[in-house]
Amino acid sequence: MTNMSLKERDKKHLWHPLTQHKLHPETIAITKAKECVLTDEDGNEYIDTIASWYTCMYGHCNDYITSRVSTQMQKLDQVVFSGFTHEPAVKLSEALIKILPENQSKIFFSDNGSTSVEIGIKMALQYHFNTGEKRNTLIAFEDGFHGDTFGAMSVSGLSIYNGPFEDFFLNVKRIPIPNGKNHHTVLKALQEIVSNNKVAGFVYEPLVQGAAAMKMHNAEGLNKILKFCKKHNIITVADEVMTGFGKTGKHFASLYMETKPDIICLSKALTGGLLPMALTTCSQKIYDAFYSDDISKGLFHGHTYSANPLACTAALASIELLQSQDIQNNIKVITASHQVFGNHIKNHPKVKSTRQLGIIFALDLDVKMERYGNLRDKLFKFFMDNGVFLRPLGNTIYIQAPYVITKKQLEKVYQVIEDALEIV
Ligand SMILES: Cc1ncc(COP(=O)(O)O)c(C=O)c1O
Repeated sequence: MTNMSLKERDKKHLWHPLTQHKLHPETIAITKAKECVLTDEDGNEYIDTIASWYTCMYGHCNDYITSRVSTQMQKLDQVVFSGFTHEPAVKLSEALIKILPENQSKIFFSDNGSTSVEIGIKMALQYHFNTGEKRNTLIAFEDGFHGDTFGAMSVSGLSIYNGPFEDFFLNVKRIPIPNGKNHHTVLKALQEIVSNNKVAGFVYEPLVQGAAAMKMHNAEGLNKILKFCKKHNIITVADEVMTGFGKTGKHFASLYMETKPDIICLSKALTGGLLPMALTTCSQKIYDAFYSDDISKGLFHGHTYSANPLACTAALASIELLQSQDIQNNIKVITASHQVFGNHIKNHPKVKSTRQLGIIFALDLDVKMERYGNLRDKLFKFFMDNGVFLRPLGNTIYIQAPYVITKKQLEKVYQVIEDALEIV
């Protein structure tokens, strides 16, 4: 048994996420990770160009974050967060409130992105319930992705493999994303939904829809939607699980819009990838609707690991790094570097279009869209064989690398992408 490789031993008991094991039986066993590099059990190295699902933005095993967490580990590991509090949670809340959109006032803890959205949905529904109005419909964008729990699946438009569960979904109406030209159509669709339904909330990924292959939309158009929602007391829930913490060029994508969301969902880069944690933040208006002499008006939702002190410490250290001059400079350098690459590659005959916001860069290949087809597998293998971990989404190749990626590593990534166009 022990002289078998990890990837062989893995096959015996492990069931991986988002995987049809019959079609994709192979895994790669990663034994270590440092900064932007993953190393597998055979000693092969890969540049982690997607920051392990957009989490490790300050680099893997970041010395500053790990040392802060290891100090905290000697002091307080875990404690119930109902009726108790602790310094890492308090300090994190103070640091976060300083950088969140100015209307955010309260922070609720959980442990993954889907759950942060689930809580956002529950806050929106219960807000109306508590204020004496039963509203039962949610609005969401076409092609959005918000996670894999039931509420999150319901608002996700991109639920191509959610067939078995669809009968159990919440009541959701969809609108197109604003593209700069369709303001009228989008607002008309909204008006029609509001006229025929009791709408409780609007759940959306601001400016970039990650799982829809980094589909980007227009800030002005989104602002109009948010204004419309405010006017109709529809609670706006910004899912910043992916866009949060600097990726779009601002600390949060919501800062691009004048109208701020009532609720914001955060996870992924929150802890710099060291530990799982998520947050749902909200404005005072939302919190006040739950604050009552009536116990049943409280938010009766809670997870065992809520506000785990180690995860809070990792998040606090990550926020300090995000605000550092070094990381802010790196964000500018990566953004400029992607712009140069985008201008160069957009004229390639195999490239249909490119797009970018901050350090998020995407390139669409001029081929038929096939989300999990052969081309995706062929490209993935090509990238890995060339030492770059990139996960194409359908016919889109995208980069969302850690802020600490070096110039040399970036150049290698661009070159490997350009070389890959030859096998398309
Ligand atoms: C925008 C967005 N929301 C929610 C989620 C779900 O997060 P998690 O996988 O941590 O449940 C994701 C995951 O990719 C996401 O990109």
